[in-house]
Amino acid sequence: MVMRVAKVLTVVVALLLLPTVAYGIRTSAKFEAHIAAADASLERPVRPVNDANLRPIIGILSQPGDPAPDGQSYIAASYVKWLESAGARVVPIFYDMDIEDIERRFAVTNGLLLPGGGATLAPGHRFYDSARHLVELALKANDNGDYYPVHGTCLGMETLAVILSSNYTILGTFDAEDAPAPLLYTDEAAASHLLRSLPPDVVADLQNKPIAMENHMNGLAMAAFLENPALGRFFRVVSLSLDKSGSAYISTLEGRNYPFTATQWHPEKNAFEWTPHLRIPHSTDAIRMSQEVANFFVAEARRNLHKAKNILEEDDMLIYNFKPVFTGKHEYVGEEKDFEQAYFFERASRGR
Ligand SMILES: *[C@@H]1O[C@H](CO)[C@@H](O)[C@H](O)[C@H]1NC(C)=O
Repeated sequence: MVMRVAKVLTVVVALLLLPTVAYGIRTSAKFEAHIAAADASLERPVRPVNDANLRPIIGILSQPGDPAPDGQSYIAASYVKWLESAGARVVPIFYDMDIEDIERRFAVTNGLLLPGGGATLAPGHRFYDSARHLVELALKANDNGDYYPVHGTCLGMETLAVILSSNYTILGTFDAEDAPAPLLYTDEAAASHLLRSLPPDVVADLQNKPIAMENHMNGLAMAAFLENPALGRFFRVVSLSLDKSGSAYISTLEGRNYPFTATQWHPEKNAFEWTPHLRIPHSTDAIRMSQEVANFFVAEARRNLHKAKNILEEDDMLIYNFKPVFTGKHEYVGEEKDFEQAYFFERASRGR
């Protein structure tokens, strides 16, 4: 009993001190009200492994913009390597594909990754419209008992927040560029399928060390989340993090009834991005965390049974049809580069 109280007290004290340690400032009581008083990792057990599909394929949605040449789209290779490291292969889904082609790719993938980036999140923009269509397909699939996981990273999380809230101005502005941060678990974190699936030491590391790579200007405030009942019905808030000025934003979301996860942080960067102008955590603990989050998402995809009609259709769609480009090569000392390697794709739509 005494041990238990001591442990809870330690966690409470650690949580109260964390923000101070991280950024040297105190946070408001309003923010602390959302933080759990106990260690979320204590809640177990893990859902049993489901190896229904031993050849999982994840779709990644491409987007226009830097570093893609004009008229082309890109996928940063770090997302591909991250998924490959956990035993999955990748099929690119081009943001400017016709709907039938998007649906064909949905039908052969076992999960969807919406990556980070800078695409515009409003109807009429092809990235948003395609993301929305894919999310609707995923929702419908899950409603029909077809377990189809979706993960959004950074812009991908913001995309899910906009789609599921139907509010194009739900995102706020935060000072969180190049701001690796600890995750402050909420009291709902105890019910998190993601956290209960990760090894307890990884859950503790994410909480106690700033190994989650945060690099964003937009974000979702708890107040905005609470104002939107549809979003609260869909997602539970698993963690908050603090930006450089001490403002709290939602850093991890998870579907209540759907296998959707979203991280404002970038688990793929730790092992696979090396730009020296960002403070990407490359410690052993950070790399292990990155791998375990990939293991989680790919394990989710192994529950899904989507399949290509035959091996030739599968071959034609795989990312192996493309060569990554060394986009991180510097031409002068101090040049800022976002990604070590990226895949570029020509315009995909026939019709438009
Ligand atoms: C969208 O979210 C923002 C931020 O919470 C809020 O100010 C705005 O009123 C919301 N708009 C609608 C239409 O609900």
